[in-house]
Amino acid sequence: MKRTRIVAGNWKMNKDYEAGLSLASEIFPMIESEVQHDLLTILFPPFVHIHALASLSAGKKAFAIGAQDCSANVSGAFTGELAASMIKSAGADYVLVGHSERRQYHGETDTLCYEKIKRALEAGLRPIYCIGELKEQRVAGIFEEVIVAQLEGALAKLTATEMAQLVLAYEPVWAIGTGLTASPEQAQEVHALIRSWLAKQFDIETAQMTSILYGGSVNAANAKELFGMPDIDGGLVGGASLKSRDFTEIAKANH
Ligand code: PGA
Repeated sequence: MKRTRIVAGNWKMNKDYEAGLSLASEIFPMIESEVQHDLLTILFPPFVHIHALASLSAGKKAFAIGAQDCSANVSGAFTGELAASMIKSAGADYVLVGHSERRQYHGETDTLCYEKIKRALEAGLRPIYCIGELKEQRVAGIFEEVIVAQLEGALAKLTATEMAQLVLAYEPVWAIGTGLTASPEQAQEVHALIRSWLAKQFDIETAQMTSILYGGSVNAANAKELFGMPDIDGGLVGGASLKSRDFTEIAKANH
């Protein structure tokens, strides 16, 4: 069995409703006609687009829709929050958990991420758990400890069966939206570390089957080299996912 190769577009807080629909209507046919290899493309639009994009991609097995976040609670008096079950019922199949912008601007911790992962799994959503070190941590040479702590803090209580539903994304914070990409070797080093942690924590099969994406200034020019590394199974793409041509080129580079 081969790991699923994935290209995910994280639109963040960009694109009003009509603009989001037209971007997705460009992306789906472009990728359908130009990408010949096995690839799962996941779009993470703002919440309000999820239902429409899920309808647009209905019946297309190579595409899925996800949410950028979900609540750690099941339901109730949590104004402004969205439950994983609501997201699922709107047509999404994936959810990002622990994106560095949630950690940075909303104080999200690994423990909270664990709760969100559990709610997502209970609702039938597949979480993409995001981890990555800050610039100071990379400079101080402690990135390995940081990555392992993020893995342990959110994943250690999961069973191997639960873990099999997850995708991981390594996104060094210093590379997000900065135009600074980790070199393929730097990214590979961390991806290999993540995979060996999975083997130790769960088992070899789980480690071998978990797709691990790289994120942080992925673009059409650097994607091929990154995706060519043995433990990099695809990308979580921010800025370049807002342009259909760039995003399609990135998708083409992932095989
Ligand atoms: P970027 O964002 O590609 O714009 O660096 C990646 C992400 O935050 O997922």
